Amino acid sequence: MHRSSLLLVACAAVLTRANPVGLRDAQTAVVDFSNKTGTPEHFASGLLYGVPDAKDQIPPSFFKDIGYNYERAGGAQVPSPGRGWIWGLDEYKNRFSSVLSNYRSAREFDANFIFLIHDLWGADGSQNSSASYPGDNGDWSSWDTYLDHVVADMESNQMIDGMIIDIWNEPDLSIFWNRDQNQYLQMWGRTYHRLRNKFGTSIQLSGPAFSAEPSLSNAWWKNWCSFVSSNSSVPDQYAWHMEGGGGDMLSSQAGLLSLLKTYDLPARPININEYGIYDEQVPAGSAWWISQFERINAHGLRGNWLSGYALHDFMASLLSKPGAESDYSNTSTGYFPNGDYQVYKYYNLNMTGTRVGTVPSGDMKLDAYAVVGEDGWARVLVGVRISTGTWNLRLDSLSSLGLPEEGTLSVHTWGFPVAENVHYGEVDGPTDLGWNDHDYSEDSVSFPVYQKDKSTAYAFEFRINND
Ligand SMILES: *[C@@H]1O[C@H](CO)[C@@H](O)[C@H](O)[C@H]1NC(C)=O
Ligand SMILES: *[C@@H]1O[C@H](CO)[C@@H](O)[C@H](O)[C@H]1NC(C)=O
Ligand SMILES: *[C@@H]1O[C@H](CO)[C@@H](O)[C@H](O)[C@H]1NC(C)=O
Ligand SMILES: *[C@@H]1O[C@H](CO)[C@@H](O)[C@H](O)[C@H]1NC(C)=O
Ligand SMILES: *[C@@H]1O[C@H](CO)[C@@H](O)[C@H](O)[C@H]1NC(C)=O
Repeated sequence: MHRSSLLLVACAAVLTRANPVGLRDAQTAVVDFSNKTGTPEHFASGLLYGVPDAKDQIPPSFFKDIGYNYERAGGAQVPSPGRGWIWGLDEYKNRFSSVLSNYRSAREFDANFIFLIHDLWGADGSQNSSASYPGDNGDWSSWDTYLDHVVADMESNQMIDGMIIDIWNEPDLSIFWNRDQNQYLQMWGRTYHRLRNKFGTSIQLSGPAFSAEPSLSNAWWKNWCSFVSSNSSVPDQYAWHMEGGGGDMLSSQAGLLSLLKTYDLPARPININEYGIYDEQVPAGSAWWISQFERINAHGLRGNWLSGYALHDFMASLLSKPGAESDYSNTSTGYFPNGDYQVYKYYNLNMTGTRVGTVPSGDMKLDAYAVVGEDGWARVLVGVRISTGTWNLRLDSLSSLGLPEEGTLSVHTWGFPVAENVHYGEVDGPTDLGWNDHDYSEDSVSFPVYQKDKSTAYAFEFRINND
């Protein structure tokens, strides 16, 4: 099929998918309680780095309470003498020990671990302009020897369960890959087959982890799709990043689907293994991202905007501790949660039961994640994407919850604020904002979401009749 007609087909598919409730209102998000979409797995509870090298330095309950299920690390920014392979074997070994301790911490919680082998190589963004890359001048010997060490160290330390190797992080940015795309694709093909031949499917392979969203107008994506198709090196997870401060998961998933169709590639799970800019790492932003991932069953790992040892601490800006911002000690403890942490805790511990389908507002600002609990309550978490104003939330098919088709719905509201010192200030739980009664008819109730700041998320709870 010609590419432009494919684009039309893909766009039509997006419209149909994003528009199941008729004409979409620009400022109304909708929950359809009759549309059951499965058991919560808290798809958004993954972290990029954020874990100290010392075991249990962060008390385990902080990880358990958010349903932590994905970790991604490779020893980035461990200083000299731990700068990775391009600085020699000893610096490789020191960096590897950070990877091993992060892997073991993740497995303590049964979290999957995405191994960043580009960081262990030394291309963590801090490498100098004369740093070497795999395959420079057509010579692959250093990369092949490096992989010998990685494979041997994974085997001798039993780093197999829950292991996913990300072949190279953000090669479309010169700070991580300062070479052309052809050299990258050769590296991809070599590495994929080397690891698959060695480990079979006992570990998963992931990529391309581009900084750019999938799209038929992105050359890195098109060339990569074309290459993996002809090279038989399609990864087990399609991974990319959502850290541009724009974009959304419906359009970016549609971009992937159009590429898969064009290059005749198979469907695979999606993993956004870095999501959210620093300003979005507040309750409103996190609730928005949670809703986006839950809708399409994509895994998400919080991006990490800290550096140095702080990169290996604070659960990607969900925790703080005394002296966290200044006078920083990487080994000190005394952790406490920030406001954003409370969203993930509620998402994991309180939003149990069965998920139901939701649709974001037409302007993509308000999004919602909703569940029907077995405890006789329905719960809806909403987040506005870093904007102020008034949006609406509409709850459809109330009769599917055993409620009458008209009447008055009493809704209990929780606010999830941040402390004044946003990412570092302590917040110990949501704020009880009381009850509101809403009259409704025709099996549907609407009420406004007043977003007066750019950070607070809200949860709405009401009793159902599920006897
Ligand atoms: C803390 O930093 C020191 C170097 O300053 C390093 O040797 C040590 O491994 C770090 N500890 C942790 C838990 O990251
Ligand atoms: C640049 O980094 C390489 C390792 O990638 C190192 O061998 C070299 O000495 C560094 N050059 C400078 C000027 O620091
Ligand atoms: C995949 O690409 C790599 C790098 O060019 C090459 O070594 C390998 O033989 C290719 N494999 C297949 C099955 O085409
Ligand atoms: C969430 O669930 C926990 C455990 O059941 C409970 O203690 C807590 O009060 C609930 N939080 C909210 C906001 O309902
Ligand atoms: C149910 O919800 C899912 C997830 O939001 C959505 O993909 C699907 O289209 C919805 N189904 C209907 C019939 O609205």
